[in-house]
Parts: sequence; C-alpha cells; structure tokens
Amino acid sequence: MVKAVVLGASGGIGQPLSLLLKLSPLVDELALYDVVGSVGVATDLSHISTKAVVKGYLPADDGLKLALTGADVVVIPAGIPRKPGMTRDDLFSINAGIVRDLITGVAKYSPKAFIAIISNPVNSTVPIAAEVLKSHGVFDPARLFGVTTLDTVRSETFTAHVLGKSPTEFTIPVIGGHSGETIVPLLSLASPAVSVEGEQRDALIKRIQFGGDEVVQAKEGKGSATLSMAHAGFRFVDSILKAVSGTAGIVENTFVYLPGVEGGEAVKKITGVDYFALPVELGSSGAIKVVNVLEKVSDFEKTLLPAAYTGLSANISKGVEFVVSSA
Ligand code: NAD
Ligand code: LMR
Repeated sequence: MVKAVVLGASGGIGQPLSLLLKLSPLVDELALYDVVGSVGVATDLSHISTKAVVKGYLPADDGLKLALTGADVVVIPAGIPRKPGMTRDDLFSINAGIVRDLITGVAKYSPKAFIAIISNPVNSTVPIAAEVLKSHGVFDPARLFGVTTLDTVRSETFTAHVLGKSPTEFTIPVIGGHSGETIVPLLSLASPAVSVEGEQRDALIKRIQFGGDEVVQAKEGKGSATLSMAHAGFRFVDSILKAVSGTAGIVENTFVYLPGVEGGEAVKKITGVDYFALPVELGSSGAIKVVNVLEKVSDFEKTLLPAAYTGLSANISKGVEFVVSSA
C-alpha cells in the first residue's frame, strides 16, 4: 500500500499534481493538506473512479499529523509563487518558514518518507529541509530531493523545438540548481546527440535557464508555472514510486545532498558545494548514486559552471543559516 501526501494541495501546482496522483495506479492512498481548501479539492478528486482513496486535511484537529502518518512519499508545493520582477530568492522570506514548519511535521510523523520539495527557492529550501531533519536526528540524504524536473522538461522541449524534432526523443542532463545561471543544461551530453552551436546554442541555454521568467511574465502577476510543474512533479514522484516498486535503472535529474549519496563526494570536490542537481539513479531506498557528468562536460559548458557554483553556495548557506539561527 502506497500513501502519497501533497502539502500545499489547494494551490496552482497542488491541484493538478493531486489530480495526476489520483490517476496513478501506483498510489493507494492520497492525503491532501493545505491551510485552506484541501477538503474541497479532496472531495472533488474522490469522485474519480481510480483506486486511490483521497482525503483532505486542514491544520485544525491535528490535520498535518493525520495527513503525514504512514506516508511513503511527501511532495511539497506549498508557498507563494513569483510575480513579474521578482527572483526566486525574493520568496525566501515567506517560503523558508513554511518549508521549515512542514518538514518539522515530516520529521515527527513520517521520518522514513521520500520527500520531494517543489517550493522555491529550491536552492535554499532543500538545505532548510535537511537541517530540520538533522535537528530531529532523521536526515536520510537518499530520501530528500529538490525537484528540478521542470528544467529537464524544458530542456527536452526547447531543444526539440530548435531542431524540429519530438521532445520525447531527448534525454538531457541539467545540473546545478533551480534558478537562472545555477541551471546548467548539458547539451553536449544529450541523447541522442544534438548539434547546436554559436548564437543558437546560447539562446537555447538562456531560454532553459530563464524559462520560469517566461511563464511568470506571460501570467501577468497571476503566478508562475503550475501545469507544466504539476506534470514535472508527477514525473519525478512517479519515478520514485516505480524505483521503490522494483523498476531498475531509473535516472532523474534532481537536487541532492552530495556527501550523503554514493559518488557525491567526488562531485563535491569539483563543485565545492554540498547540494547539487545532477542525474541520480533511483532505487528502492531512494537515491542510489549520482552520475558524475561533470567529468564529461564540454569546454563551453565549463565556462557556465563558476556562476552556478557561486550562486548555489550563497543560496545554500542562506538556507542552512536560517535553520541554525531560528533554532
Ligand atoms: P499557489 O499560491 O497557487 O499555491 C501554494 C499553496 O500553498 C496554496 O494553496 C497555499 O494555501 C498553500 N500553503 C501556504 N502555506 C502553507 C502551509 N504552511 N502549509 C500548507 N500549505 C500552505 O502557488 P503555486 O503556483 O502552486 O507555487 C507553489 C510553490 O512552488 C512556489 O513557491 C513556486 O515558486 C514553486 N514552484 C517551483 C517550481 C520548481 O520547479 N521547483 C516550479 C513552479 C513553482
Ligand atoms: C519555474 O521554474 O517555473 C519555477 O521555479 C517558478 C518560477 O518562479 O519561475
């Protein structure tokens, strides 16, 4: 029996993500938690004739505890989204506390669950989650993931558009973090191989790095990516559930704590940071090992990496210090 929990289930991402999870044959029980509206969302989804049993929870009456108890996977899209002109780091002042408090619940009520963090800024919210889990003595680096799948999805889509091919054909490592220049798509390692050079390559990389801004601007103040993110979040959770149920060889790009995953120390020696997104092999206990694609990047891609390391280092320290100073 697999129990999936969505924290922030009534939001722009939370609702379509919950719908996709309700449609999944891999989910038996679906718990939807939010500070508002989650009972209505759950009642609506509960009429769909698929097997998952859906229930909504609010903070009253121990709602977070009841939602999380027995969870196998917890996915977190709770928190405010950007408006035009904002960076993801501008969300820190509100979302850092939301993630800290929700992860405190995970630490207490479902410490063995796989945790997938969508809330921005991911480069900081994942270190926040790790510090909270550490403070409760339940941090397992193989089970904590920052969801960077939307960058992967964008890289597949935009690369295919440039080449006039189908997006489903491509696998492209996207490494680093989840904001602007910390997002580094490795087109040189695309499979099948792609040939994009010069200005066309530069424009493609910029579009992948700043794809989030494209949606924020197009939505004109009404939020950021929700539907494409729900797809990406479901793709990631689905990969975890498949890996847990025994499918071998599943690899997803995701933001992990390097020292805690096999192969991560070697990557840390190159990047100088504790957290990094890169292809990670998933298995029944979560992250099995990282794939050290850094050894293979092109000379051009090497020039993109220092900005990613600098940005990540600042974002990670900010997250860690937030928990240490509020302890
Ligand atoms: P939204 O405002 O539509 O929904 C957020 C939901 O979180 C709301 O329903 C709200 O009530 C809920 N919430 C707030 N505080 C909560 C708490 N303490 N406990 C439980 N729920 C709480 O926003 P959205 O568009 O769904 O975006 C959510 C987050 O996801 C934002 O931070 C956004 O930047 C981020 N995001 C990340 C990615 C990514 O690639 N990782 C992509 C898109 C958006
Ligand atoms: C995205 O990449 O679409 C998300 O991180 C939301 C945002 O703020 O851009």
